[in-house]
Amino acid sequence: MAKILAIESSCDETAVAITDNGKLLSNVVATQISVHEKFGGVMPEIASRLHTENITVCLKEALDKAKVNLEDIDAFAVTRGPGLIGCLHVGLQSAKTLALLYKKPLIPVHHLAGHIYANEYVGEFVFPLLAIVVSGGNTEFVLMKDHMDFEIIGETKDDAVGECYDKVARVLGLPYPGGLPIDLAAKRGKPIYPLKEPDSPEGPYDFSYSGLKTQVINLVNTIKQRGEKVNVDDMAKSFQDVAIGVIVKRAKKAIEQYGVSQVILAGGVSANSYLREQMTALLAGSKTQLIIPPLWCTTDNAAMIAKVAERLYDLGVFAPLSLGVDPNWKIDHWKDF
Ligand code: KG4
Repeated sequence: MAKILAIESSCDETAVAITDNGKLLSNVVATQISVHEKFGGVMPEIASRLHTENITVCLKEALDKAKVNLEDIDAFAVTRGPGLIGCLHVGLQSAKTLALLYKKPLIPVHHLAGHIYANEYVGEFVFPLLAIVVSGGNTEFVLMKDHMDFEIIGETKDDAVGECYDKVARVLGLPYPGGLPIDLAAKRGKPIYPLKEPDSPEGPYDFSYSGLKTQVINLVNTIKQRGEKVNVDDMAKSFQDVAIGVIVKRAKKAIEQYGVSQVILAGGVSANSYLREQMTALLAGSKTQLIIPPLWCTTDNAAMIAKVAERLYDLGVFAPLSLGVDPNWKIDHWKDF
């Protein structure tokens, strides 16, 4: 292993982390949430500009905190995709410049592999493993039979679960990002509103969240047209039961079908308290272990990118300086760049 400096800039967090032989020396995250809040979602152009402003500040802070110089770094790692194209470019150009200047390898990391490997800060992986990747941009069931061996057994065919939380929150007048506000409101509510569980659009582990979002919007409009008030807590609870319930139900089926030894939660929505409770209850007393990531590694950060980069460094997976970003990079194609 080596000293790795990793950069993450795929969405609205600019992040730099430094690891030394697997030990996390620094992990700096500059979030832009307060800027995008007023738009009710991430504005890509604004996000790219803010990354440009923040990247050198984060870089300096990460080096200062880790007490290392750029000359000491053995490799520069960066999120190459998936994500917002302009945002990814800021991280990639920074990492390329450093790799060129210090004549060190450039390591391209898949963002979702990062979310999955964030769990290695908590526990060791046991295979076969089911990674439930739930975030603002993705909803995927990833089966791993070994390290860096990713098979997507199911994914959303339209909206991601986090995106659905954010849109439903907007309809209910809750702040952005909507995941936590809905999670908190749901704790006070009762599941009194009738919402239908979305079907699997294609395979048994595929998801569709756009219909659920439309159901909530239509229901809220109908209630308002009747001149009645929507009970936000009850709507949040009714929505959350279905949105998370469908993930837990399909996870149960996948665990049985693939004889899974370990389940890990990954991505922003893995912070959800109901998902954590339901998965813990599902696997209580079973032989299948559950890793629940600490909250600090559920949101975007570069420590998780460094975790994957350590493995890629040992495998000698380095990219040429002609590397480009891939906003739609699939996790099972992580070697293709
Ligand atoms: O992983 P992340 O930063 O986004 C991507 O990389 O795509 O996740 C952000 C998403 C947002 O949609 C946010 O609403 C959701 O994670 N989120 C939650 C919770 N906390 C954050 N969703 C449900 N419950 C939560 N407690």
